[in-house]
This record gives sequence, C-alpha cells and structure tokens, in this order.
Amino acid sequence: MRNLWFLENPLRVIILQSPPKPVLTYYKTLMANINFSNSLHDTLFPEFIHSVRCTEESYVGDCLKLRDLDPKGIHVSIQNGWHSRFFNYHDDKCGVDRLDELMGGCWSYAKEFAANEFKFDTLRIEEWWVNIGANMSYNNVHSHGRAAVIGIFFVKVPEGSGDLVVQRNDGASYSTIYGNMKNGNQFRITPEENRFYLLPGHLWHWVDMHQGVEDRISISVNYY
Ligand SMILES: [Fe+2]
Repeated sequence: MRNLWFLENPLRVIILQSPPKPVLTYYKTLMANINFSNSLHDTLFPEFIHSVRCTEESYVGDCLKLRDLDPKGIHVSIQNGWHSRFFNYHDDKCGVDRLDELMGGCWSYAKEFAANEFKFDTLRIEEWWVNIGANMSYNNVHSHGRAAVIGIFFVKVPEGSGDLVVQRNDGASYSTIYGNMKNGNQFRITPEENRFYLLPGHLWHWVDMHQGVEDRISISVNYY
C-alpha cells in the first residue's frame, strides 16, 4: 500500500497508481502510517481587477460642465451626489467633447484588454455616466447586471475619499474557508486619479462613504 495513493468512500476503495513525482507540494502529516503523495492543486475561476493610468490631464472641469448642462441628473445608485444621465459613445454624445473622446479612448483600451486576456473580441460600449459625490456621499452595494466588463475612471480623488470595494458574490461568500485570507472574499482599492479600472460586471462592489470636503468625481462605463 505504501506506493499507492487511495481515495476512500463508504462504498468502495479506488486504488490509483501514483506517478513517480508529486506535481505540487504536499503536506507532511504526523499520521505517518498514511503515505500522502502526488498532491494536485488548481486555482479555479479567478476574478480580476485591471487598472491603467491613462492621462495626465484633468477632466474635472469637463465633468462640472456636464453637470451644469443638467443640474438635476438622475437618481440611480449614488447617495448624496449627482449622477448624470446615461450616454452612448456611438449615438448619444454627452455634449462635452473631451469626455466623449476620453470614453472613446478607454473603450479602445478595454477592447484590446478583453481580446488579449479573454479572447473576447466583440466587447462593445453601451453606456457611460458621471458621478459627482459630495461630502458623505456613497454607493450602495451593487453589480452591473450582465455587463461583461465595467470600467471606472477616477477623475478626482480628494483627501477623505473612501475605497472602492469589490466583493465576490459566488457561493464562497456564504462559506468560511477564505475568511482568514487577505483578499479572500473582499478586495479594497484606494482609487488613484486618472487611473482607469476594469473588472467583471457581475461582481458586487461599492464605494465607501466620502469623508472629504471637495467633491469626488468618477466616470463609470458598461461594456457588453
Ligand atoms: Fe458600479
């Protein structure tokens, strides 16, 4: 039995020949009468967050200009803040040329990213919008439905801005196995100005309450 690795269940014993060398590390145990060997280990179904710095220019004035065009905006997820209506890069420009141009550039980047990383070469931009959060503004936990990828471009991150928090939402969120691991179930990102973040649209996420005085400004976009 020493050179065999076995799996046991209540009904039968399956005996498997072990290959000559273990593929990955295995754990030595005090129960030396059982010869563990040939451990196999895969990391399954990883999620991602990808980010890139994409400009040195400020888009603060452009976002404020957009708000001036429609001071009421619409109410969706941001609390104590302004949410623009939804724009589409192709046939519903926002009216502030620099923002349309920025979102066109970000779409190009996202398309290349999805094609290279996931062989997903049909990524299309659907809608984008601007968020301007005042002191004490925040986002409730949410996902972006069936969006393949979402993008968040941080225009202004004043002192006191909260983190962007991403929370896994598969069955592991009801389990304890990853609870003691850093980033096991939740990943926090301190946003950086002029950095563009990409993540899967299905993941839960939110932005912490903004404790600063100056407005926090971001642009969000859905890609399908
Ligand atoms: Fe979001």
